[in-house]
Amino acid sequence: MKMSTEQTLILVKPDGVKRGLVGEVINRIEKNGYKVTNLKMLTADPSQLTQHYAEHKGKVFYEPLIEFMASGPIVAIVAQGEQVIEGFRKMAGATDPANAEAGTIRGDLAGEQGGKVVQNIVHGSDSVESANREIKIFFGN
Ligand code: RTP
Ligand code: MG
Repeated sequence: MKMSTEQTLILVKPDGVKRGLVGEVINRIEKNGYKVTNLKMLTADPSQLTQHYAEHKGKVFYEPLIEFMASGPIVAIVAQGEQVIEGFRKMAGATDPANAEAGTIRGDLAGEQGGKVVQNIVHGSDSVESANREIKIFFGN
């Protein structure tokens, strides 16, 4: 079996922070055997968000997403572990909480967001390249 220790960028989005779910998210990361290697609370500035979500520019949800992500403090977390990138995305569940399975962060915790797909509690990087790029945006060099 191929071993691959990776790092991923996880964001607890403004809805997660407002609803007091920071500890719950960190607990799930650690319970799944991953290590938190860096962490901070911040209010994202527009340049961080436009860089972070550059791939979505022009999509219908882009403007509401940027606006939502700037609406309050977020918690940025670097987690490390064996295939943590895919592992955390499984833990997060489907993008739309309405489709997210029980046992996932979005399925268990984002049930009452009134159909607003942008409010899905967490972000997780989707590849090694994205993770490296996104960690730089939130933690610098
Ligand atoms: P993420 O990047 O946040 O880990 O989530 P993801 O890969 O599952 O979703 P992605 O396609 O990268 O979309 C980024 C974020 O945009 C919002 N979104 N809204 N209204 C919609 O249809 C819609 N689609 C995406 C979500 O906040 C999603 O996490
Ligand atoms: Mg994504």
